[in-house]
Amino acid sequence: MGKLDGKVAIITGAAQGMGETHARRFINEGAKVVLTDVNDDRGKQLVADLGDNALFLHHDVTEPADWRHVRQEAERAYGAVTVLVNNAGILGPISSTAEFDEDEYLKVCAVNQHSQFYGMKTVIPSMQKAGGGAIVNISSTAGMVSIVGAPNLAYVGSKFASRGMTKHVAVQYGPDNIRVNSVHPGYIKTPMMEAATDEDGGGIAGQVPLRRMSDPEEVSNLVLFLACDDSSYISGMEHVIDGGLTAQ
Ligand SMILES: NC(=O)c1ccc[n+]([C@@H]2O[C@H](COP(=O)([O-])OP(=O)(O)OC[C@H]3O[C@@H](n4cnc5c(N)ncnc54)[C@H](O)[C@@H]3O)[C@@H](O)[C@H]2O)c1
Repeated sequence: MGKLDGKVAIITGAAQGMGETHARRFINEGAKVVLTDVNDDRGKQLVADLGDNALFLHHDVTEPADWRHVRQEAERAYGAVTVLVNNAGILGPISSTAEFDEDEYLKVCAVNQHSQFYGMKTVIPSMQKAGGGAIVNISSTAGMVSIVGAPNLAYVGSKFASRGMTKHVAVQYGPDNIRVNSVHPGYIKTPMMEAATDEDGGGIAGQVPLRRMSDPEEVSNLVLFLACDDSSYISGMEHVIDGGLTAQ
């Protein structure tokens, strides 16, 4: 028996990186998964490999109309949505606040923060129909503290907002049996992190008490836990997974 048997999940930004490993893990645990992304080529390749319990949909998470389409197609294919992983995110450029471009600020906030509002707004009615659900909002250690090396204030601000919205929605929809949690990864080996650092991780592994970066699958373990019934009494909380980085 899988931990997600009978669950229908939407995972955004699932064409690569942590979204991809979450999707693989969810399918292995019995879920039906709608993977969404703006990267259609990679997304389509991936679902071809994942089998009948995976569907890929083109989805720009900054577009409310795209969200409505994704919910409709997910319900049509698999029934009411019971798990949402708001994973898509971007770093934006490395910039000081005084030099940060206003349009770049708005773009980072749209992809990292506004998308999580649109996602929860759109999917909550489906969860209510199903009698409950679990929402996992992917934030960052940058949503706990302004770590040295955070690229810009919009990244930090949007990841703090994710944490705050998580608590608000958890309180509001607890009576509907909808649990909402945020996940705060540290340094994880994904294409995003590879693009932001040099080959050895920019020496950043040395900043971590465990002295290494994490594999994305280690974060998938936590996301799976929060999505499945093993965490049935956990809601409204932030879950840091950073090898001890923010404990220092
Ligand atoms: N990698 C890390 O070390 C790290 C640390 C903390 C938090 N995070 C967060 O984890 C999440 C996943 O990060 P990752 O490292 O796997 O990143 P990644 O860049 O490898 O993957 C992100 C995916 O999101 C997609 N995406 C970007 N903009 C989108 C949009 N507008 N609509 C739909 N999809 C879009 C991309 O196409 C890509 O497939 C992000 O929210 C990121 O901020 C990552």
